[in-house]
Amino acid sequence: MADLIGQLQSLAATARDAVAGAADERAIEELRVRFLGKKGELSAVLRGMGALAAEERPRVGEVANRVRDEVEALLAAARARLEDRKLEAELSGPPIDVTLPGRRLLPRGHRHPLTRAADEITAIFSRLGYEVASGPEIELDWYNFEALNIPADHPARDMQDTFYVEEGTLGPGARRGSVLLRTHTSPVQIRTMKRLGRPPVRVICPGRVYRSDYDQTHSPMFHQVEGLCVDEGITFADLKGTLAAFARAYFGPATRTRFRPSYFPFTEPSAEVDVSCSICGGSGQKSGGRCGTCKGTGWLEVLGAGLVHPRVLENGGIDPTRSTGFAFGMGVERLAMLKYGIDDLRLFFENDLRFLEQF
Ligand code: DAH
Repeated sequence: MADLIGQLQSLAATARDAVAGAADERAIEELRVRFLGKKGELSAVLRGMGALAAEERPRVGEVANRVRDEVEALLAAARARLEDRKLEAELSGPPIDVTLPGRRLLPRGHRHPLTRAADEITAIFSRLGYEVASGPEIELDWYNFEALNIPADHPARDMQDTFYVEEGTLGPGARRGSVLLRTHTSPVQIRTMKRLGRPPVRVICPGRVYRSDYDQTHSPMFHQVEGLCVDEGITFADLKGTLAAFARAYFGPATRTRFRPSYFPFTEPSAEVDVSCSICGGSGQKSGGRCGTCKGTGWLEVLGAGLVHPRVLENGGIDPTRSTGFAFGMGVERLAMLKYGIDDLRLFFENDLRFLEQF
């Protein structure tokens, strides 16, 4: 019996030295197999227990258990020590720069030219103190036409021009022709005045609009930016100054503006606004011939504008005897075409990378 206990004690002593010298995970695992494995040293010693007297076995068993526990604890401590050392090495090594840009697997994308144009227009008006407002693309007839003083027999209301929403999809109570895809961003004027309730109102409203149209300069879905400014004492001079400042900011500092009398049901007086041609500089001549962009006139029509009709202010809940205002609306496709020299509007929607990558 003393012999077996001696063997167990020397096994423990050897294990202590061996585990202390283990340098990596693999060495630790090898020691576990050597001492505690099925064919390991501890099992070999215990096989000798068969020769012992029955009363001697518990005593040897007890020592054997203690040795197994100790070796297991030694191995666990060695593993923990290795983990610690690894972590420390990582922490004291060269720092990881989390601000380093990622590796580019795909070329970086960019904004669509229309998004870029709308963002630029919006940014110019933001600098003039305008806030961005929006409204639904599926709109009520009242906001799109009625409240804007557009009479019942106005050609814009024609089925040929406007996409109406089938009354069957609207549920019970829907009146035929009462819901449509908005044909312009002007309904946001009414919605904004009603939301704010009183002047001052100064908003810019970029968004998608829809008309039943399709050719080189028309698409059934296109984009507009609406502007509305209402306060006490607003005059046509404010409108002219604001749009002249916008034209210089968008087309360049030498850009001139021209107002021509026009008609819109929701403004009075109304104007069509032209800017000096951004391609020929307003001369109408380009490389010895006629400038194709302005057709030789030196002017480009870019937007509609006017002083808000009193009935429109009233429909927006604003007292027209106290406040006045101006409004304007422009087509984003047209402004982008003029700025970048694009001659076919359909290019914006074909998603041909050879076109889009140029911006
Ligand atoms: N809503 C008009 C259109 O789509 C554009 C427009 C003209 C808007 C004059 C205005 C305006 O706010 O004052 O043709």
